[in-house]
Amino acid sequence: MKLRSIELALSGAAQAAAFLTEVWGMAPAAIVGNIHYLRGSGSFPYLVALQESAEPYVRSTTFVCSAERLTQLKRSVTEAGLPARPVTSDDPGGGHGIEVELAEGELLRFLTDAGEVAPIDGADLPVKLTHVVFNSIDAEATGLLAEKALGFRVSDRTKGMVFVRCNDSHHSTAFARAGFASLNHIAFEMADMDAVMRGIGRLRDQDMAPAWGPGRHGPGANVFAYFIAPFGPVIEFSTAVEKVTDDYQPGAPDDWTWPEGRIDQWGMSDKDFSGLRAAEDKFRHRRDWETGSLDALTEENH
Ligand SMILES: [Fe+2]
Repeated sequence: MKLRSIELALSGAAQAAAFLTEVWGMAPAAIVGNIHYLRGSGSFPYLVALQESAEPYVRSTTFVCSAERLTQLKRSVTEAGLPARPVTSDDPGGGHGIEVELAEGELLRFLTDAGEVAPIDGADLPVKLTHVVFNSIDAEATGLLAEKALGFRVSDRTKGMVFVRCNDSHHSTAFARAGFASLNHIAFEMADMDAVMRGIGRLRDQDMAPAWGPGRHGPGANVFAYFIAPFGPVIEFSTAVEKVTDDYQPGAPDDWTWPEGRIDQWGMSDKDFSGLRAAEDKFRHRRDWETGSLDALTEENH
């Protein structure tokens, strides 16, 4: 199971795409109708889709997996009673699978047989997405739901977040204890720490300072630099997230405390709490599709 892409709807999709290619460092992948697709250097056909819309919202977050894993998911999602439907993707790479709505409206799409593309060179390109984090009213319940209904695993719990993995990367998603449900941020995996630092430099050239960072997190130990994108959401340059084994023991909030005055390992940067909070409120989840049967039991009997 791999995190592949996020599909957003917003007003000003073309301007957002221009920022992500000209400043942030992505490469254009395709424009189909009113959707701009942007890619990184890795083998996924795109990482971000931006669809023109009057209102900003998250259409979906897409994972790719094997046919066998998809069959398991159909069963576990059906057993959990979550709203879902079968889907065939029209996005670059195609593929087919299911779309699922979690309890607080988070929309996750799982595809199999999705095509990949040849990697491209570019030391400043993000390689891929490394995590997409959501704000939750009840992050604890949502983390447990991701375990039960999706077969994900909680890696760590802190005072602020429940970190969840879907492979050996410490987290591909997380649920922030925010009191409301929305997109918290999108993190791009950079090739190395130099690529993160050069990214901060590119944004400084546009008079954009990090809203938090550079720094190194506790859980996952990844390097980070968060920015508030001109088109609304919080986006992050990240690198070097920890790999974990199946027997990783989840930490509890008391295992992840900081000395007075610290909120990351380096302690070299301030955090714009109110700016980040406002940006995290902009992209809510919106399901614009009807649910349908996943035929989980039929398929199992084949
Ligand atoms: Fe992050």
